[in-house]
Amino acid sequence: MTSKWIGILGFPLTHSLSKQIHIEKLQKANLNYEFRILEWSSVDVDRHLQELKKDPTCVGFSVTMPYKEKIISYLDHCDEFAKKVSAVNCVKNVGGQWWGYNTDAPGFMKHFKLWNPLPPKEVHVVVIGAGATARTLSYALAQEGYRNFTFINRTEEKAKAWAQKIKTFFSNIQTKVLKWGDPSPCELRMTNVFLMNTTPFSPVILSAAKNLISPAWIFDVAYNPPSLSFPRKRESMDPRLRGDDSQCRERCFYTMNGWPMFEAQADLAFKIWTR
Ligand SMILES: NC(=O)c1ccc[n+]([C@@H]2O[C@H](COP(=O)([O-])OP(=O)(O)OC[C@H]3O[C@@H](n4cnc5c(N)ncnc54)[C@H](OP(=O)(O)O)[C@@H]3O)[C@@H](O)[C@H]2O)c1
Repeated sequence: MTSKWIGILGFPLTHSLSKQIHIEKLQKANLNYEFRILEWSSVDVDRHLQELKKDPTCVGFSVTMPYKEKIISYLDHCDEFAKKVSAVNCVKNVGGQWWGYNTDAPGFMKHFKLWNPLPPKEVHVVVIGAGATARTLSYALAQEGYRNFTFINRTEEKAKAWAQKIKTFFSNIQTKVLKWGDPSPCELRMTNVFLMNTTPFSPVILSAAKNLISPAWIFDVAYNPPSLSFPRKRESMDPRLRGDDSQCRERCFYTMNGWPMFEAQADLAFKIWTR
């Protein structure tokens, strides 16, 4: 009999540490599941997903770039948050029906709230990107009471569309769209900024931060390799939390990379699959 399995869907998956983190969890939980890498290009992802939907041995899988929105059309149930931001990063197979969840938002929030000090509510939240993660994190921050958002995306139309849409969910929210510059996406000359990179193109974060003035909070969703450090006391750091961001530390910025969020969203996904 084929064994049960969990996995990850995305393309490309070369930088993903999903397999390592979930194999450790399977071993700890004494579960004899396989871990499958579903690295399917856009040319044949639909054909594969149609087949996968019939596979009773699939317990569930994580979803990453670029399929967090696409997967929604294959679901039978989707959590409310995921529907609003059109982003599902965790699928569970419940007797042949697929249930979709967003564990990125609580994963991010868990560690965001450990920042000391937290960005004040009146901070300028500057989001680089307008994909699934940009929508998820900006919506989660708006739920926390942040009201001032600027979006910058390589494809400007997507930034404009989300800047409009998020306003339909929250009152008193201000949104702005900046043009993606060259060679840096933007050069911010502001204080009280919470800058976040939600694209796989990590170098943007340090070039965008070049002219920021303290206090500034900077988050990069990337974790492999990490561009930023968190927490800021390097000597006590796990190597996975350490980034090459000396210029930010010298200027007293508060920084965080994507590893804590990655771990937290994976914990939540694993709980969903095994509960
Ligand atoms: N740490 C974590 O736990 C965690 C969680 C979620 C996501 N992530 C990471 O976040 C990244 C985005 O994932 P996603 O699911 O949000 O993907 P997505 O929905 O496909 O969105 C990708 C975004 O990145 C932009 N982009 C892609 N390649 C780019 C490039 N070369 N230069 C500039 N912009 C580029 C896209 O811009 P266009 O609109 O112009 O294409 C879009 O804004 C991935 O690297 C993913 O691994 C990490």
